[in-house]
Amino acid sequence: MSLLIKHGTVINADQSYAADVLCEDGKIVALEPGISASGIDTVIDARNCLVMPGGIDPHTHMQLPFMGTVASEDFYSGTAAALAGGTTMIIDFVIPSPGERLLDAYHKWRQWAEKSCCDYSFHVAVTWWDESVHDDMGTLVRDWGVNSFKHFMAYKGAIMADDGVLTQSFPRALELGALPTVHAENGELVDYLQKLLQKKGILGPEGHPQSRPPKVEGEAAQRVIQIAGILGVPLYLVHNSAIESVDAIAAARRQGQRVFGECLTQHLLIDESVYYDKDWNRAAAHVMSPPFRPKAHQEALWDALSGGVLQTTATDHCCFCGEQKEMGRENFAKIPNGTAGVEDRMAVLWHHGVNMGRLTANEFVALTSTNAARIFNIYPRKGVIRVGADADLVVWDPALVRTIRAETQHQRVDFNVFEGMEITGAPAYTVSNGRIAYADGKILAAVGSGAYVNRPAFPAYIQAQVRQNGRHPLRSVPRSAGNGADGRL
Ligand code: URP
Ligand code: ZN
Ligand code: ZN
Ligand code: ZN
Repeated sequence: MSLLIKHGTVINADQSYAADVLCEDGKIVALEPGISASGIDTVIDARNCLVMPGGIDPHTHMQLPFMGTVASEDFYSGTAAALAGGTTMIIDFVIPSPGERLLDAYHKWRQWAEKSCCDYSFHVAVTWWDESVHDDMGTLVRDWGVNSFKHFMAYKGAIMADDGVLTQSFPRALELGALPTVHAENGELVDYLQKLLQKKGILGPEGHPQSRPPKVEGEAAQRVIQIAGILGVPLYLVHNSAIESVDAIAAARRQGQRVFGECLTQHLLIDESVYYDKDWNRAAAHVMSPPFRPKAHQEALWDALSGGVLQTTATDHCCFCGEQKEMGRENFAKIPNGTAGVEDRMAVLWHHGVNMGRLTANEFVALTSTNAARIFNIYPRKGVIRVGADADLVVWDPALVRTIRAETQHQRVDFNVFEGMEITGAPAYTVSNGRIAYADGKILAAVGSGAYVNRPAFPAYIQAQVRQNGRHPLRSVPRSAGNGADGRL
């Protein structure tokens, strides 16, 4: 199986150049101008197009059982939508119920994901603690290619991890060479504010942002960064939406702490006015956590992306249709949390980032693919166009104009938070494992054609952390019994 992409401009995170790309059996095997097309099975003419590493969305939730229902997108429909948007790999989440063995949950999710049509991997959530969790974390890292563990500081009474769980889990992740990740919102404060709003009769979707203001996120971000700093553990914060959390990450990074941050495309473009819409359905459709913020936060997020404070973009793709959102008609706290985005992430970021002069094309590649590959330790297999890398590519037509509409999307959900947005720049072709997976608006990838990606543990990176701890070694003072430190009474 050979595929040749001719006449395009290759865009990597570090440089751009004109070259043809030859793929064989799922790998890139040659990268130079003027590769002959004779004997090649499939040839793509990429004249006037950019050839970029396929996107990696490090945060999705396909068919997630959550808040009394199940997300409407399954692993086939969701990964097909990803391919339509130029994303060739997702990292989804195994979320065990409290008390459920991590390994049992992991194997359940692996089975659900077999129908994926792009490559996929899993973070595993630590939602409770006992010795079996400690042991299963080890098995997952050593035998099952998991190198990141997720902790929800919110969702009290469900999957929330309190400081006790974080303090057990973070050092365990460190000793295994795995990266702890967190959803930073103070779950106790959310619970308190939800009850307060309900008591005051505020039961509509406008209660959602009021129960989760920016400081609720900022407090948790600051706290968990301090916890990770004390434990000497690297940390990745998902879906940062607020100035407060961005500032906390920036401050920690300035002091040499290894903290990474992610941002969702939705938070870059949508503000909290959506929750005050008179139409309950529209307001409820935007309910996700953290909520959309006042506009000033969006500029801070863009600055954090271009300034290197945040390294990745994701979607937290978690779809619920109108009838599922209805579960919270009488109480905003019961509206299933989540919005879609996996199909639109790259085009929206290209249009509002590159076309608007906020990002260069190389920065775009870093933010949509390369940095996620590095942080989650699958670089240079993924995240770069080079000989030996997986042939996961997007042939990007920077002149293609499209209007985003729920009616025409591949995402299996009845709403799109970017409805009516006109964007310039979109995939002409998406190539997954050396095969054309999407072209001309059509999904060509077969059910189950995606592969599970093992992510190895990180030895070099962890050593860097240990060196950092070495700057503040633990000290003891030798004293003889009953005496002062110098041996005299
Ligand atoms: O609202 C959201 N984000 N739903 C998915 C679960 C999570 O918090 O990531
Ligand atoms: Zn241990
Ligand atoms: Zn979350
Ligand atoms: Zn999420």
